[in-house]
Amino acid sequence: MSFIPLTEEQSEIQRLARDFALTEITPHAVAWDREAYFDRAIIARLGELGFLGMMIPEQYDGLGLDTWTYLTALEEIAAADASIAVAMSVHNSLPTQMLLRWGSEAQKDRYLRPMARGEMLGAFALSEADAGSDASALTAQAHRDADGWVLNGTKAWVTNGNTADVVLAMVRTDTSEDRRGARGISAFVLTPDMSGFKVGKKEDKMGLRASPTTQIIFDDLHVPADALLGEEGMGFVYAMQSLDNGRLGIAAQAIGIAQAALDHSLRYAQERKQFGKALREFEAIQFKLADMALRVVSSRTLLHAAASAKDRGEAVTLHSSMAKLMASETAMWVTTQAIQIFGGYGYMSEYPVERLFRDAKVTEIYEGTSEIQRVVIARELYPASDP
Ligand code: CAA
Repeated sequence: MSFIPLTEEQSEIQRLARDFALTEITPHAVAWDREAYFDRAIIARLGELGFLGMMIPEQYDGLGLDTWTYLTALEEIAAADASIAVAMSVHNSLPTQMLLRWGSEAQKDRYLRPMARGEMLGAFALSEADAGSDASALTAQAHRDADGWVLNGTKAWVTNGNTADVVLAMVRTDTSEDRRGARGISAFVLTPDMSGFKVGKKEDKMGLRASPTTQIIFDDLHVPADALLGEEGMGFVYAMQSLDNGRLGIAAQAIGIAQAALDHSLRYAQERKQFGKALREFEAIQFKLADMALRVVSSRTLLHAAASAKDRGEAVTLHSSMAKLMASETAMWVTTQAIQIFGGYGYMSEYPVERLFRDAKVTEIYEGTSEIQRVVIARELYPASDP
């Protein structure tokens, strides 16, 4: 259920994404989750459909679509498998957008075009073991050398970290004599074939098990001068601006998870009988279903407003934090209600809502926890002139 009218093109892309998800993702999602298996072939298929370059202009081999069309497709993929959706979201919102906005023409030719065609998968490396919410406290360090830079440090919790072909990494370029805080961080375009690029530990996770999350280690990683993205010292600002996009993607992922939980609950409440009648005839269940639908539709409507503001060229820091906060808390709440409606079956891995519940949790954590979204929202409530 959606109160947002789609154009003919948007409906067509939504159908394409839904059919693709139903035929090529849903049949495998349970096994991929159980085995923590990431299927690169699906990523290649998403690329063939154009889903890895949806917001990249045609001039750089993308589809040049608006944000809402992209988010609509992403929601369909997430409803089938949130692990595949996060790969799609990170790739579309973070590394490709950074290259589009701040990359040189040479970087766009070398990385952005193949990424938009789906031939290269992207990752985004910001967090570190001691710099999660406090991202500007990161310590990975770059030193200049004769040919460019030498990087050392360890990045944590990188989505697609062991499979990405291009990694946008935030690394300090200030010096110990002249620390510049958030302005001492630069963005680098890295590839795994660079000498000193190592993939570290692969995490064993509660949810999103089919999405690889790894450390990336820079061990005297030598990179040429042209691996720097944009201006030196601007990497943190670029990362924050990119997260304004990324958080919209995570909101769509969360809404996809919540919609799937609602759909399963509606079907189950129709089929399951207790005390001689279908669950949907009990007011206790009706109230749950109504509240679940209300929160899903409200989250989607807020996300649509955020996407529209972005496409009008407005700053969307406030919108995207609100949309992500609301959608991720909706996903957690709706999947919890779904398990309750399914009762004992809901707690069993044989039934689908248990995976949705596990997958929902991380949407309240990555790309900024719910607490960080509230910090950002609260800051944005005061005008810049009102310290
Ligand atoms: N747009 C543009 N500029 C921004 C910005 C934004 N949204 N947010 C901050 N900046 C700028 C500030 O204006 C400031 O610039 P000046 O130097 O000109 O003043 C600079 O960046 C530093 O900003 P702050 O002083 O606000 O920085 P802070 O240290 O107080 O941190 C924060 C702010 C909001 C808490 C930020 O650290 C944050 O968002 N933390 C959460 C980190 C996060 O989301 N991590 C996600 C990891 S990636 C991931 O999860 C991807 C995945 O794989 C799924």
